[in-house]
Amino acid sequence: MWGARDTRDPHVPRRTGITRDDPAGVCTPSAGPGPVWASGTGDDYGRKPSRDQSSQEQTPQMGDTKDTLTVTDNRTGETYELEVTDGAIRAMDLRNIKVSDDDFGMLSYDPGFKNTASCRSEITFIDGDAGILEYRGYSIDQLAEHSSFLEVAYLLIHGDLPTADQMDAWTHEITHHTFIHENIKQFMDGFHHDAHPMGMLVSTVGALSTFYPEAKDIEDPDIRLKQIVRLIAKFPTLAAFAYRHSIGMRYAYPDNDLSFAGNFLNMMWKTTELKYEPNPVLERAMDTLLILHADHEQNCSTTAMRTIGSSDADPYSAAAGATAALYGPKHGGANEAVLKMLEEIGSVDQVPGYIERVKKGDFRLMGFGHRVYKNYDPRAKVIQQLAHEVFDVTGKNPLIDIAVALEEVALEDDFFVEKKLYPNVDFYSGIIYQAMGFPEEMFPVLFAMGRIPGWLAQWQENLEDDEQAIARPRQIYVGARDRDYTPIGERG
Ligand code: CMC
Repeated sequence: MWGARDTRDPHVPRRTGITRDDPAGVCTPSAGPGPVWASGTGDDYGRKPSRDQSSQEQTPQMGDTKDTLTVTDNRTGETYELEVTDGAIRAMDLRNIKVSDDDFGMLSYDPGFKNTASCRSEITFIDGDAGILEYRGYSIDQLAEHSSFLEVAYLLIHGDLPTADQMDAWTHEITHHTFIHENIKQFMDGFHHDAHPMGMLVSTVGALSTFYPEAKDIEDPDIRLKQIVRLIAKFPTLAAFAYRHSIGMRYAYPDNDLSFAGNFLNMMWKTTELKYEPNPVLERAMDTLLILHADHEQNCSTTAMRTIGSSDADPYSAAAGATAALYGPKHGGANEAVLKMLEEIGSVDQVPGYIERVKKGDFRLMGFGHRVYKNYDPRAKVIQQLAHEVFDVTGKNPLIDIAVALEEVALEDDFFVEKKLYPNVDFYSGIIYQAMGFPEEMFPVLFAMGRIPGWLAQWQENLEDDEQAIARPRQIYVGARDRDYTPIGERG
């Protein structure tokens, strides 16, 4: 059961944590536990202070310090002491910093939320400097090697790995919710013949809310879980149907005898055979790719999911918004952009010239760089290995040679080294997807299919978090004020 929602005015500080100190503002020693390592956002996300030599040298010994930050406002000479918890101050605590009683109070300005933690989460841990990714404490390498996508979905949603019985029940539930209402098929038919499958997915996921109106009851955990099952189960069906529509092929219905990934391949590729039998290597590769994409903490689409969910919208509407956020080339559209880039480069000998143009600022190297990873993306490592297994079945994708050459040149080049730009998950995933037969337009769809359990786990965590309120950031208004309206005929 989850706690009562916080309906307090979000403009009123919930806890002061901030005190007007004596003018001297000297921190007195405390017997507190000493600084704990931060789980902040941005370049330093999840970095343990012990990795940072300079801060390590300055770290006072346990017992010498208070977990507070002392700030002097040079506009007034006032000194304030702000509580520090897990390496973060509360932005609301800044509001007591005022130049006068009628001053609104200090805001923090953070476009793109590069250094703002929006939640306390137990779902996914990333150490961007060390290239570590863990779901609920389990490393992505172990999960990719030993687990399955459905097991990872269970882990993300429920917090622990399932027992054998729980896993059987979960698999049964998901498998038996893969069918979609026939009416959904009908409005899918209404899309233009060359509609982008991601556009179709955004619309159809949102439309599911009209088929399950009880989903609005987001406070009932049983109803919530039902929608979670439906969304995980139906996403591949919507994805595959969108693809079949775009190539004018009859929809292939789910096959409950197959695994989650095997069934998806069935709905994608089945033609005249009575029973589709997925290639086990490709089935496993598909499943692993879904695992790698299953969550990535507070990225753009997850933030969209949490933000929409914070208004108590139903999960289908929130997932449609998250899917839309994933559509952009800087997020889920990046692997499609990587393939276009590799095709444009055309051959290995064109790589140095292309790199020079990136350095001149003509365009970005797609599949490189990450807001969080300032090291090799651990997912990219797994995908690189997977590529060879897939190519053994499908034949080698010639674009891999261009990609490897690009990576080699970039990793040696000062421009990329200084900016800490390394291959991200999207650099190699598109090459595998293409070798498996997926058209480029399907790449973000596959990403969304993998990410849905993560979105749902984050959505649920947000709803269960008593500290959360409707997402509503502040702005710093810099536009005109107090202008007099001029009738149109009098405007110069
Ligand atoms: N190629 C060339 N320069 C780059 C690149 C790139 N791919 N990425 C970042 N930079 C430069 C950027 O120009 C900036 O330089 P300067 O400091 O001189 O202005 C610096 O590196 C920092 O870039 P930023 O845009 O401030 O960094 P960010 O954290 O806001 O952006 C990013 C992260 C992923 C949007 C960006 O690296 C990018 O656009 N990469 C290409 C798109 C891509 O591969 N996206 C997939 C991300 S992984 C999948 C996912 O999680 O969605």
